[in-house]
Amino acid sequence: MLRLSPADRVFILTGAGISAESGIPTFRGAGGLWRTYRGDEGGTHEAFRRDPALVWEFYSMRRRAASAAKPNPGHRALAQLEARLQDRLFLCTQNVDNLHEQAGSARVVHMHGELFKSRCDTCRLPPFDDARTYDPPAEIPHCACGGRIRPHICWFGEVPFHLDEIFSALDDCTVFLAIGTSGVVEPAASFVAHVRGRARTIYVGPEEPANRSAFTECHLGNAGEVLPELLRISP
Ligand code: APR
Repeated sequence: MLRLSPADRVFILTGAGISAESGIPTFRGAGGLWRTYRGDEGGTHEAFRRDPALVWEFYSMRRRAASAAKPNPGHRALAQLEARLQDRLFLCTQNVDNLHEQAGSARVVHMHGELFKSRCDTCRLPPFDDARTYDPPAEIPHCACGGRIRPHICWFGEVPFHLDEIFSALDDCTVFLAIGTSGVVEPAASFVAHVRGRARTIYVGPEEPANRSAFTECHLGNAGEVLPELLRISP
């Protein structure tokens, strides 16, 4: 069980692993997306420029899979922790699904974007809610400015969202808890090194992440099984 004092501020980083038990494939694990699809076919701006229909086919597949998914006990344990700690908890996710929100988390910072939002690739139209799918031969959507509409996702080579807010929360945290992330994709993989020595650093997942050495504690197991017990905060 995680012991917290009233002065503790908790930074949570989640990755694809927390949604694995909800039926959403991870990226690099067995059956992972990048085992089936090439990252440069669905995960870069160059791919979108080259073949927007193929990229929309990929995200339409992901929208369908995520629409059918439900939050698991791992998501719910984090929502309950937020209800207890209020603004002493900062939840940053690399995931683009909305399972944290479905589980009741009110403040979720999506550093890699959101699957059910789209935006214009040309003008500064703010991202808008969009759960539609665009499978060939459907036309890909265009903006009033004439620009192509793209998924509101941070692709490889692009700058993640909300980094100022994230680093200010990292600077404030006394407990850093990472869940279900392989620790290979930057800048998220370096967050633990940023707080090491100043905050308790805890990892939850069935296998050790690539940045294992930066964690003071490692709980090997599935998030949906480990988190309800670990986060049953003692009063
Ligand atoms: N509970 C917790 N962790 C799990 C579970 C589970 N049930 N099942 C698998 N995992 C762990 C795996 O051990 C692996 O370390 O989840 C991790 C998933 O790693 P990746 O597939 O690499 O996903 P992630 O770290 O979130 O990827 C980071 O890379 O492709 C980009 O933008 C994409 O946000 C993504 C980023």
